[in-house]
Amino acid sequence: MKTITKTVLLSSISISTFAQFGLSPAQRDSINKLTTNDHNNILMQLGIERSQLRPGPSGNPKDANAANSSEEKVNQYTLPDALVLKNGKKVKTTQEWLEKRKPEIVEDFESEIYGRLPKNIPSVTWKVISVKDTMIGNQAIKEKTLKGIVDNSAYPTIKVEINLLVATPAQAPKQVPVVLEFGFIRSPFGPNTTQPIGLGSSGEPTWKEQLISRGWGYAIIDPSSVQADNGAGLTKGIIGLTNKGSFRKPDDWGALRAWAWGASRALDYFETDKEVDAKRVAIEGLSRYGKAAIVAMAFEPRFSLGFIGSSGAGGVKILRRVFGEQVENLASSAEYHWFAGNFIKYASKLTPNDLPVDAHQLVALAAPRPVFISSGSPQVEGQWVDAKGMFLGATHAGSVYRLFNKKDLGTMDFPKLGMPLVDGEIAFRQHAGGHSTGPNWSTWIAWACRYWGDCK
Ligand code: GCU
Repeated sequence: MKTITKTVLLSSISISTFAQFGLSPAQRDSINKLTTNDHNNILMQLGIERSQLRPGPSGNPKDANAANSSEEKVNQYTLPDALVLKNGKKVKTTQEWLEKRKPEIVEDFESEIYGRLPKNIPSVTWKVISVKDTMIGNQAIKEKTLKGIVDNSAYPTIKVEINLLVATPAQAPKQVPVVLEFGFIRSPFGPNTTQPIGLGSSGEPTWKEQLISRGWGYAIIDPSSVQADNGAGLTKGIIGLTNKGSFRKPDDWGALRAWAWGASRALDYFETDKEVDAKRVAIEGLSRYGKAAIVAMAFEPRFSLGFIGSSGAGGVKILRRVFGEQVENLASSAEYHWFAGNFIKYASKLTPNDLPVDAHQLVALAAPRPVFISSGSPQVEGQWVDAKGMFLGATHAGSVYRLFNKKDLGTMDFPKLGMPLVDGEIAFRQHAGGHSTGPNWSTWIAWACRYWGDCK
């Protein structure tokens, strides 16, 4: 089986590698032009001149403007307190958190970072496309492929069909827990033969095999079937459909929320699937899909567990921390489409220190449900994702978990490579491999079974 080599530094991967996979130069050109158009439009709506946009640092450590990768050069910053209301009062009970503070934080994330879901999102009808008794490795599975057909009667020019694959152990005696990955599905959905990005590292069974041998299932949702991974696509896909093909407004949703919305629709389907226990569905993703996974955990209470792989900036890494990828990179035309247009303000007229919230509060929105934050080793993965910044996003969410009498990471000290911090509802492990969740699967599974049962 072909595997993706994990030894490349993430910073050396072109930002749009995934998005532009398999495209001709002419198609790329057209996407780039439309993206620039869309980026220009949102800058105009925000009253920002292109010259006012601060450029982000380079992901290439050899460049003169390379992103900071030295702990000594990290800036001082003050994080907004997850448990202090805007009126200055301290939150003391879970009720105050749920009724007062959480809505404030949700509002800030929606208006300034990830965008709001529109009121008029059409319904999705799930259709089973194929059912197959097949094998994964040497284990028998039942594999289904589905399409979630979005009702486009209000704007028939835009068609959205969500691709989903679900695999469960053959002849499972009862409904099984499932891990839903934001990833890639092989045929029958087209020529893309890319393997899922959370692939097991060489020498280990793949994540799929590990889950099946545990008696659990796996599923893959193809995010780009919900919303394209570029700015050009913002007037199409589910975002374009709800806007009837027009440009976004500054607080409209970006691709991360759209992908997370798609994952929620997959969860709707799981509730009707007699092979799946919809109360035990985890969400998993790597990199930009790791960002989507924490957004899904934060906004969708039905996800039982999270596995957040190398999510970096825009995921669980503290945005105020000057190390690795920066807000300025996220606001560029290559990545702004993941977010609400308003987020661009923080790379121009405002700074990351002006953000009303930071990544620890995104993790806190998942409380009290368990989340596992995963990273690779700096030597192999590079420093772009900022493993320590992600660790800090996890530690600073601790106060909210403790309010629920749940266990946080239990330390403020960044653990050594490979050290699993897995005793609580917030977990963290930096594995020794590259840009992958692969080497952390066995640790994740051992942690997850505490919540899902069947630990023996
Ligand atoms: C780029 C980008 C990251 C992103 C990554 C990926 O490196 O800067 O924010 O996580 O691509 O998704 O592969």
